[in-house]
Amino acid sequence: MRLQLATWPEVTDYLTTRRGVILPIGSTEQHGPSALVGTDAITAETVAWEVGEALNVYVAPTMAVGMAHHHMAFAGSMTLRPSTMIAMIRDYVVSLSAHGFRRFLFINGHGGNIPTIQSAFYEIYEEQRATHGADAPDIQCGLVNWFNSPPVVEAARRYFGDAEGGHATPSEVAVTWHAYPDQIRDVPLDPPVAPEGRFTDWRSLRANFPDGRMGSNPALATRELGTEFVALARDHIVKTQADFLAG
Ligand code: NI
Repeated sequence: MRLQLATWPEVTDYLTTRRGVILPIGSTEQHGPSALVGTDAITAETVAWEVGEALNVYVAPTMAVGMAHHHMAFAGSMTLRPSTMIAMIRDYVVSLSAHGFRRFLFINGHGGNIPTIQSAFYEIYEEQRATHGADAPDIQCGLVNWFNSPPVVEAARRYFGDAEGGHATPSEVAVTWHAYPDQIRDVPLDPPVAPEGRFTDWRSLRANFPDGRMGSNPALATRELGTEFVALARDHIVKTQADFLAG
């Protein structure tokens, strides 16, 4: 159930019995020479929309740009400063809380977002406490990283072994192929499995990972596996987050 495809009377009616909302959050950043710049936003919203359908919970508009400073040496990447992202998350939550939403489940597609999302939650909680004290509305925020769901991690290891890697992974690429089968690229990757290594900032990432992949071979992705990863993530999140969203 997508909030953008609802009317305000429908949302009003929903809020008479429900208080939960799902917020997909991703990134717009390079994913190597063969995968889409929108991968992390596409994967987050693909999983989020399925969870929303399974639980009859509204899914807010996707936050499609995240904290991707480290990818900025590659064309097409966009980033928010952490401070901007915290302000954006705060405004999404406070806007929706004004109407009665109280349980905010963020389904995230980008590891680089995690510290900022967690900081935003405490920014919101502390603002509410400082402003309203004991009368503060019972706003609670939760975070799930679909790609870290244990069933997804287990399946990725079984299908791809070490070639799952850490960025432009075959599991996330498979999910984009499930979502957009007409956007599958056949690009030669050299070497097939990208190097492992470290980075600190945008320049060192480009220096150490020349084509943008990290330890992965996204050519191992298939559309069918993408469908399976979406189902595994959906079922895990439904099972572990239904009580939270029901508030
Ligand atoms: Ni990604």
